Amino acid sequence: MILASPIETPQLLLKTIEPSDVGSRYLAWLSDPEITRFLEVRFTPVRSISDIASFVQSVNASAHSLLLGIFLKEERRHIGNIKLGPVQVDHRRAELGFLIGEKDCWGQGYMSQAIAALSRYGFDRLELEKITSGCYESNVGCAKALLRAGFMQEARIPSHVLFEGRRVASLLFGLDRPAASPTI
Ligand SMILES: CC(C)(COP(=O)(O)OP(=O)(O)OC[C@H]1O[C@@H](n2cnc3c(N)ncnc32)[C@H](O)[C@@H]1OP(=O)(O)O)[C@@H](O)C(=O)NCCC(=O)NCCS
Repeated sequence: MILASPIETPQLLLKTIEPSDVGSRYLAWLSDPEITRFLEVRFTPVRSISDIASFVQSVNASAHSLLLGIFLKEERRHIGNIKLGPVQVDHRRAELGFLIGEKDCWGQGYMSQAIAALSRYGFDRLELEKITSGCYESNVGCAKALLRAGFMQEARIPSHVLFEGRRVASLLFGLDRPAASPTI
């Protein structure tokens, strides 16, 4: 899916990733063990910029997933990505995944803003009724960003993933479409 015009938050622009956005910084994010620590991509390392370019191109071409770059509005700096999809059309539901690759941008509220803004877009424009996400229990930053964006923890699956040599739980989060305001 391609986004016709960027989604704006107070500090961010979320927009479709162009080929010119895929470069050495993006490859460095996915090659940094501190960034991929909690991500499945650590099991299948990304080796080249062209691997990333093919991934971006295939998601942009898909009818059911929306992959957006997260850009600082003022600097136009690409700091991370957020993906909504695949959309389960029959269930009006989609999954959210995300990362901030520029580590100096962690802990500044950016992901909470991005999650809230893309969720709103999903409800308003893609007619979703539920958005889900999840993380390892040990990924405190991720869980907090989801909660701060309005998600609820809906489940804890014990012993679900292998993380740094031990089994840890996964947490599942969900956000229901807000009820429409009554019209008088
Ligand atoms: C996890 C991640 C998405 C958080 O994004 P972020 O923009 O730093 O999150 P926010 O600034 O919106 O923070 C939300 C809350 O989490 C806290 N937080 C952020 N990173 C944290 C960390 N590593 N440890 C503990 N708390 C953290 C923030 O202080 C904030 O707390 P508050 O609500 O009490 O103020 C980001 O650090 C990241 O992309 N990490 C690497 C990849 C990854 O783990 N992705 C998620 C996979 S599920």
